[in-house]
Amino acid sequence: MPGGRPLGEDIEVDVCVVGAGIAGISTAYRLAREGKRVAVLDAGPVGGGETSRTTAHLASAVDDRFTEIERLHGLDGSRICADSHARAIDAIEEAVRAERLACDFERLDGYLFEGGDDSGVSLAEELEAARRAGVAGVVRLRRTPVERLDASCLLFPRQGQFHPLKYLAGLAHAIVRDGGRLHPETLVRDVEEDRPARVVTKAGPVVTADSVVVATNAPFIDRFAIHSKQAPYRTYSIAARVPRGSVPHGLYWDTMDPYHYVRLAPSAADEDLLIVGGEDRKPGDDADDEERLEELERWTRERFPVSELRYRWAGQVMEPIDGVAFIGRNPGRHENIYVATGDSGMGMTHGTIAGLLITDLIMERENPWARLYDPSRVTLGALGRFLRDGASVVGTLAEWFKSGDVASVDEIAPGSGAILRRGISKVAVYRDREGRLHERTAACTHLGCVVAWNPVAGSWDCPCHGSRFDPYGRVLAGPAVADLKPPSAS
Ligand code: FES
Repeated sequence: MPGGRPLGEDIEVDVCVVGAGIAGISTAYRLAREGKRVAVLDAGPVGGGETSRTTAHLASAVDDRFTEIERLHGLDGSRICADSHARAIDAIEEAVRAERLACDFERLDGYLFEGGDDSGVSLAEELEAARRAGVAGVVRLRRTPVERLDASCLLFPRQGQFHPLKYLAGLAHAIVRDGGRLHPETLVRDVEEDRPARVVTKAGPVVTADSVVVATNAPFIDRFAIHSKQAPYRTYSIAARVPRGSVPHGLYWDTMDPYHYVRLAPSAADEDLLIVGGEDRKPGDDADDEERLEELERWTRERFPVSELRYRWAGQVMEPIDGVAFIGRNPGRHENIYVATGDSGMGMTHGTIAGLLITDLIMERENPWARLYDPSRVTLGALGRFLRDGASVVGTLAEWFKSGDVASVDEIAPGSGAILRRGISKVAVYRDREGRLHERTAACTHLGCVVAWNPVAGSWDCPCHGSRFDPYGRVLAGPAVADLKPPSAS
């Protein structure tokens, strides 16, 4: 990954992009190609956030299904959805070719297969909805090409896959080549909305910019307008060895809720690496990360000839209530602040759509996708989903009235954390590997929900809007921008 230093001085640019994941880097790359002076700031390294945890499917078959997108957004919305995701894969392919990026990009077919009788999804209806949306070449097959997946499916041609970090590294190099600046390890504390805007970093230096793009998975500049329309879901992945050739190359995902998704990654050994994701968990769900990962492994072993489990990890996606990301002008008084969030399970294509759409908006070009992705939109048909996820967030607020995870710090093993009730407050206690205890108030510094220990990532995660903190309470990901406070300061 290209270097760049933390920002050490005040600078002026045309566009300041906050967030160096797929959405931020794609946007900065395109704007730099257009001649804009861009600076990209990120609290961590380039590609160090959720982009590093994706399974990197490049699908134009939307994971919320075309039947649901058409119900919520009408036929026009469903057509734009299909077109924009397909165009995103094209744009990635074009960048790979133009920049000669060695990022394992390949085109391949995608298969949506029946995962079980209780999925509630009709492949026949989804086929018709996909055709009405303009998806080229979609057909129904009697079964998938995987030997043990003897299930009816829809074939979506010309999907894709790639190595997202290799891809981002290539784009980051191109940004610097085109005069842009990369400033990793630069935490942004605030965006002062004005013309020009001021992006204030925690260390002090300020970026003055005509336009600001906030592409931080969950935007830290919003308190209500967008956070009330999306919810963080934890998502789980494993990578396992399978005999070479035993699983035909393709993208596979089932009709279940939560659904499972599968692809192969290139491997140097004489075996293939199968990457499987799924078992997403919404806020307030009691199942823990270990249980979800075990369930994902069990599901995989039942369907694929796994010889050895190699990796497992957890990530976080922001699930919009109406199935479509929020990309465009940030709701607010000023038109020069842009946001990209609500990626759902389509992070790689939604991030690329952000690069295409926000570049057009900043360059003052018409873009037919703008209305569908407008962050200010209200989708009336999504009220039921709003209540479901809203109720989950309310459930997480009720955490304040429950007991802690443990009754005493003696129950906390080295290298792990737990919530402890102390009087009327709750404390996030981490025991390091040497046995020392580190305490912080358990109140998330965004809007005060109780954080929870994530044993897979080794972090404190907020179930309300997705903020993450390291074991010592330092902010890893927003929307929170301040560290967890010492207990005495709560
Ligand atoms: Fe909003 Fe924690 S992220 S309260």
